[in-house]
Amino acid sequence: MKNILVIGATGQIGSELTMELRKRYGNTNVVAGYIQGAEPKGELKDSGPSEIVDVTNEAMIESVVKAYHIDTIYNLAALLSVVAESKPKLAWKIGIDGLWNVLEVARVHGCAVFTPSSIGSFGADTPHTLTPQDTIQRPRTMYGVTKVTTEMLSDYYHTKYGVDTRAVRFPGIISNVTPPGGGTTDYAVDIYYSAVKGEKFVCPIAEGTLMDMMYMPDALNAAISLMEADPTKLVHRNAFNIASMSFAPEMIYAAIKKEVPDFEMVYDVDPLKQSIANSWPDSLDDTCARNEWGWKPVYDLESMTKDMLEKLRAKL
Ligand code: SER
Repeated sequence: MKNILVIGATGQIGSELTMELRKRYGNTNVVAGYIQGAEPKGELKDSGPSEIVDVTNEAMIESVVKAYHIDTIYNLAALLSVVAESKPKLAWKIGIDGLWNVLEVARVHGCAVFTPSSIGSFGADTPHTLTPQDTIQRPRTMYGVTKVTTEMLSDYYHTKYGVDTRAVRFPGIISNVTPPGGGTTDYAVDIYYSAVKGEKFVCPIAEGTLMDMMYMPDALNAAISLMEADPTKLVHRNAFNIASMSFAPEMIYAAIKKEVPDFEMVYDVDPLKQSIANSWPDSLDDTCARNEWGWKPVYDLESMTKDMLEKLRAKL
């Protein structure tokens, strides 16, 4: 990785991944690709180059790849699970037509490509506990449908054309820089904002609903170390299960309450979010990621909670 393009650089993951890549590979070598209306601001804007890159426009991707001699593309453009249910066609256009554009440019210009998949690529028929790397993937959400297709199309470009595609299946990502939007796991971010603001948290997910989650620093490390991994060791490519913690609402609430004793939470379950959450795994088995490229998370619920509260108190 020498010259990197991040598509979706102003989103929840992109905004932090771009800065982390700039730290590791040099500010001028990492281009922040964004769409009109989601311009980079502050440090993200000032620390390095940025370009409008609409993933649905192949010529636009190609001209940036050529201008900056890009060799690696992080393609993070997507609609999250809840919003994709109300805009399924747009979710497909961005997630799959967009991916096809990225892969074509990568094929012609010899770029490596990382396009994340998700716990959303699994469905109700998938074994829910310690979900294996290779198992049934029959999601019934449009988000899931695009993620399974992402995995297959990325593998297709690798086997057919030799494009160096690699990816992880991200769990719910918890972070304090850019908020997520329209996801099923967003509650696990929102709850920290409520705790720091001194507000009662209204939880849209029912007690006892386990989902895999991860703190942003671990997610960034996963995305970067996989792209740096020795390709001869990779048996899988698109996409690896990665895991660091799995919890239900009452568990994250208890972890926060330990630090913020008067914090209160009530439930008002959102039927759409709940049905999506019910169809996703309770916990993933990430043995393949550990064995094939040395994946190892740092944060657990307790250490993440301490860090989230500290960062958000400073920010808000
Ligand atoms: N965070 C995503 C969502 O909730 C899952 O990958 O949609």
